[in-house]
Amino acid sequence: MNETNRLIGALFEPVTIGGLTLSSRFVMGPMAVLAPRTDGRPSEQTREFLVARAKGGIGLIIVGGSVATGRAFEESPFQPVLRMDRDEYLPDLSRLAGAVHVHGTPLVAELMVGFGRMGKPTPARRNISASANDVFIPEDRFPRGMIVPGGKRTPTATEATRADILQLQDETVAAAVRVRKAGWDGVEVAAHMSYFSASFLSPRTNWRTDDYGGSMQNRARVLTDLVRSIRSAVGSGYPVGLRIIANEHLPDGQGPADYAAIAQLVQNAGIDYVALSDGCYETMNVGMSVQDGEIVSQGTASPFKRALSVPLLLPGFHDPLNAARAVAEGRADLIMLARPLLADPGYVNKLRTGRLVDIRACDRDNLCLRRLMMNMPVRCSVNPEMGRESRAGGLPPPKRWIAAPVEHAILAATGSQSLMKLASKLMARKRFTP
Ligand SMILES: Cc1cc2nc3c(=O)[nH]c(=O)nc-3n(C[C@H](O)[C@H](O)[C@H](O)COP(=O)(O)O)c2cc1C
Ligand code: SF4
Repeated sequence: MNETNRLIGALFEPVTIGGLTLSSRFVMGPMAVLAPRTDGRPSEQTREFLVARAKGGIGLIIVGGSVATGRAFEESPFQPVLRMDRDEYLPDLSRLAGAVHVHGTPLVAELMVGFGRMGKPTPARRNISASANDVFIPEDRFPRGMIVPGGKRTPTATEATRADILQLQDETVAAAVRVRKAGWDGVEVAAHMSYFSASFLSPRTNWRTDDYGGSMQNRARVLTDLVRSIRSAVGSGYPVGLRIIANEHLPDGQGPADYAAIAQLVQNAGIDYVALSDGCYETMNVGMSVQDGEIVSQGTASPFKRALSVPLLLPGFHDPLNAARAVAEGRADLIMLARPLLADPGYVNKLRTGRLVDIRACDRDNLCLRRLMMNMPVRCSVNPEMGRESRAGGLPPPKRWIAAPVEHAILAATGSQSLMKLASKLMARKRFTP
């Protein structure tokens, strides 16, 4: 066996999370690309998108673009989203799980508690977060391909009350129970980027003086209480994961050692795996990495590996050989593939059958993300079938004949440095004209 085959072999050694055995070390990362119906139920496209990835041999699918609470549904910056916040959605969620299970692939639901400062407020519903602050994304911190002259600042959130926290906790626990009843294989608590739960974890964003602020134990409480309640509601032997920010990458931000210590506290409350997400919205270029495997090469993942006894799931590896090295060297237990599975749903099976050279690589230029941020149906620049899986070569529905060329024109304009600079100057002039 040559060195490459030996390395790749490490990616197909079985691994168990909370009693669930996976056929490979590759996990599909959560992505809001599912095109559910506007009422929040899965569409035919949702099902066919997931089935294509299940057929492609992925070991586990984490379903993102989903909401666990009524607030998360109302304030979601991305629309439409998959709803898990009410019992009426249970039969549809159950059918969706059944369609994926046909291919032997387990699926886990990302439980989005709330979007915090990234939510879309209305005059009647302000954003809530750990403390009353905002998010500012500087121009040079947007992922490659995204041009936002002057950067972007979100509205200042209101400090969440204890009643807000407990209500979101109760709804999220109910969503976990619902997902379990619907036959899904696990749930993952979302505490990453600059979303509601993540805002409590860092002293930079949590200025509270009650028992949700101050010490590390207090800052982790929003998660330890939630995970304990989920665990007691779903019982032992049902996988519960955590997606947590790994490093804010800001001079006044929290680093990996403290985030790893928080992850350990949450682990002790009853989780079965930890998935990392590098950076927050203020440093969102880090999470949409350009360099392969930076989360390991920059030393971000190692404090987590030392602090945790449950499997560690790392993002940012598109090159299977780098991924294999990380697993073989014990730096990661599982590898998250997000954009690579938009580019090539068959990635894992190609690797399994020795067709490494046939894998269609993601260009990391983020057309997918730009479309998401503009609330357009997500597409991939190297895979024309992505987002159209349910059409099976058929014609687009009539409304797409008008929408598609308009989207192309907007994308071309927003992809131009000079046009975006001009637009921002015009908007600034308009804003400050008395
Ligand atoms: C189009 C798109 C949608 C995403 N939606 C979500 C989401 O709903 N939830 C989430 O936790 N992460 C989401 N992500 C982030 C991915 O899970 C992942 O962290 C990121 O893409 C980096 O991994 P990659 O290099 O494998 O793409 C999204 C990413 C993309 C490109
Ligand atoms: S559009 Fe496709 S190729 Fe480009 S970054 Fe997104 S997934 Fe990768």
